[in-house]
Amino acid sequence: MLDLPAGQVDIWFTRTDRVDSGLAAQYYALLTQHELAQNTRFHFEKDRHRHLVTRALVREVLSRYAPVAPHEWRFEADSYGKPRIVVPATLEKRFAFNISHTDGLVIVGVSLGRALGVDVECVQRRAALEIVERFFSTHEIRSLQRLSPQEQATRFWELWTLKESYIKARGMGLSIPLDQFAFHLDEPRTVSIEFAPDLSDVPSRWQFCQMRPTEHHLLALCVEARGADETPTLLKVREATPLRNHCVLLCPIDRCSEQAAMQNQQPHFAQAI
Ligand SMILES: CC(C)(COP(=O)(O)OP(=O)(O)OC[C@H]1O[C@@H](n2cnc3c(N)ncnc32)[C@H](O)[C@@H]1OP(=O)(O)O)[C@@H](O)C(=O)NCCC(=O)NCCS
Repeated sequence: MLDLPAGQVDIWFTRTDRVDSGLAAQYYALLTQHELAQNTRFHFEKDRHRHLVTRALVREVLSRYAPVAPHEWRFEADSYGKPRIVVPATLEKRFAFNISHTDGLVIVGVSLGRALGVDVECVQRRAALEIVERFFSTHEIRSLQRLSPQEQATRFWELWTLKESYIKARGMGLSIPLDQFAFHLDEPRTVSIEFAPDLSDVPSRWQFCQMRPTEHHLLALCVEARGADETPTLLKVREATPLRNHCVLLCPIDRCSEQAAMQNQQPHFAQAI
């Protein structure tokens, strides 16, 4: 069992190509009938595989922090689609967790009750710059337009993952208008957010962080900030192959809300636990 102190966020990720068919068979044994039925509904094998690895990772991760076997957890999606723990019911409020997946990678972020959202994207994919007018705020569009074409692709993925991490932390999906909040990324290594008045939210409520768990993936985290007693927020990143192994990784932070407020508490080398 691992310790998860208040104020710490643990991010776990799995490279889906590290899971071979033998391991996949063990993962299928963890799934409920409902999850098995969901799995068969994916048309492509790569999507079934990603769904399977996601289910295995979230079960394995939560079992690291509570005396519950990976196959015992039960989840239900709320009306916005966000999964919550229903068995054991006593742990529903204890853990906040969020899932994201993209080509080649699955991630789970977990904390003790602090709302959080994570998003990961494969940045080898083409940046869909033609959709920014529809989804991004005026400030974000203007700051994108000032950049070179190469920089625009990078900025697109930075904004996209940060915006997703925020709506996922709020848990209300796309009912939050994406152009009603704006990220400011013009200063190197920092992130700040601004809300339109209608959104009834304040920047001090949230902390953001962005990093590259692999050379092809960009990850954003949005986590609820708490009072002075619980700062700084500590972040630990682990790479795992569920039911096999995991290690803590040094994963340098590209950007975060306040350099002093979110400390990357990681060793300077990969450390098997
Ligand atoms: C569903 C949504 C929450 C995330 O979708 P996504 O980015 O395509 O997918 P991700 O892989 O990052 O996240 C999917 C996971 O989020 C979780 N999730 C689902 N609904 C959620 C919600 N309302 N809040 C938080 N998390 C949610 C689920 O665990 C899901 O994985 P699972 O179905 O395997 O359990 C939502 O934000 C969405 O539909 N986005 C569409 C993309 C878009 O237009 N983005 C604009 C960005 S500028």
